[in-house]
Amino acid sequence: MTTDTTGTAARDDEPRPGGPADSPFVRACRRRPVPHTPVWFMRQAGRSLPEYREIRANVAMLESCRRPDLVTEITLQPVRRHGVDAAILFSDIVVPVAAAGVDLDIVPGTGPVVAEPVRTAADVERIRPIGRDDVDYVDEAVRLLVKELGDTPLIGFAGAPFTLASYLVEGGPSRTHAKTKALMYGEPELWHALAGRLAEVTLAFLRVQIEAGVSAVQLFDSWAGALSEADYRRFVLPHSTKVLSGLADTGVPRIHFGVGTAELLGAMGEAGADVVGVDWRTPLDVATRRIGPERAVQGNLDPTLLMAPWPVVETEVRRILEQGRAAPGHVFNLGHGVLPETDPEVLTRVVALVHELSVRPVDQG
Ligand code: CP3
Repeated sequence: MTTDTTGTAARDDEPRPGGPADSPFVRACRRRPVPHTPVWFMRQAGRSLPEYREIRANVAMLESCRRPDLVTEITLQPVRRHGVDAAILFSDIVVPVAAAGVDLDIVPGTGPVVAEPVRTAADVERIRPIGRDDVDYVDEAVRLLVKELGDTPLIGFAGAPFTLASYLVEGGPSRTHAKTKALMYGEPELWHALAGRLAEVTLAFLRVQIEAGVSAVQLFDSWAGALSEADYRRFVLPHSTKVLSGLADTGVPRIHFGVGTAELLGAMGEAGADVVGVDWRTPLDVATRRIGPERAVQGNLDPTLLMAPWPVVETEVRRILEQGRAAPGHVFNLGHGVLPETDPEVLTRVVALVHELSVRPVDQG
């Protein structure tokens, strides 16, 4: 299977040399030697790119996620423009939840909005398990992309149970997650039923992407940083573990990311991640001490810093690469997603700078 070009070679112990499963990105995830530090950006496919705004001009967000031709084009745009080391599937964390029967929309400038927020056991029961046929457009888009991308790896992704539950319970984005926490603390059984159901949906969704050929997956628990470590371990970790550990047999590297998670980095690694994403608040050498030597790290340039004068950006990139050397593997990224007002030229320069500063001879062993 090592000559396989479908990307499923990621499951091999010995991937095809130079193929996506042997790319600098996948090698860094696996803590193997790399020719340069790989770099990609969360939300690289999106509103910072004029070509994205053009193609999305008259198409609603959820509809664009369900059109494999658009998904393919939008996913490829940042790869062409910036020369990043990985593509991330253009989609959204609520896509599988919508496929599971939840009535929702993605409102421009706001984010996901749920028609009938989840409040009761009957609401949880209405979230159906999903299979490949419920998200056939994702399966098709991944297959098209794997062909188009050649040796560039494609990252699949999903939202983690806590972050998904927050949108479903609040009905939309929330700063405090107050309703979600009220349900968690006040009705723990209902909470675990909801998070358990979302873990099943997420696991099935990631398995569809892996079957179709993605080279790695990222589980976004963007809002987990709202919790203390003790509450995270009690209410969230078992469900995120069901997702990440449930993918162990696939051999595909698993990245786990959240914002404001300095106190949770160790626990998030324990959920079954090969790579832990770190936001800009925690230096990567400090993060590595918390995460341990068994996992690589990803991060962690502050996305607002891309608006600073170039010498400031350059100094920060150098610092992050330096601190990233403390980790057994480092994937360069931002500490959260690209902001829409970012000048795309700066992103291209960051990619070139990361490559230039980190280039090193590599023993391919
Ligand atoms: O990273 C990528 O380039 C892939 C695409 C991607 C999108 N959403 C596209 C998108 C990814 C990985 C996501 C994940 C996602 N969606 C997360 C986790 C990552 C994170 O940022 O923490 C979350 C929390 C969501 C929910 C969501 N969807 C939000 C908060 C928003 C932004 C609302 C807004 O308009 O400002 C969305 C909409 C969304 N998802 C857009 C894009 C490109 C913007 C919609 C548009 O272009 O009209």
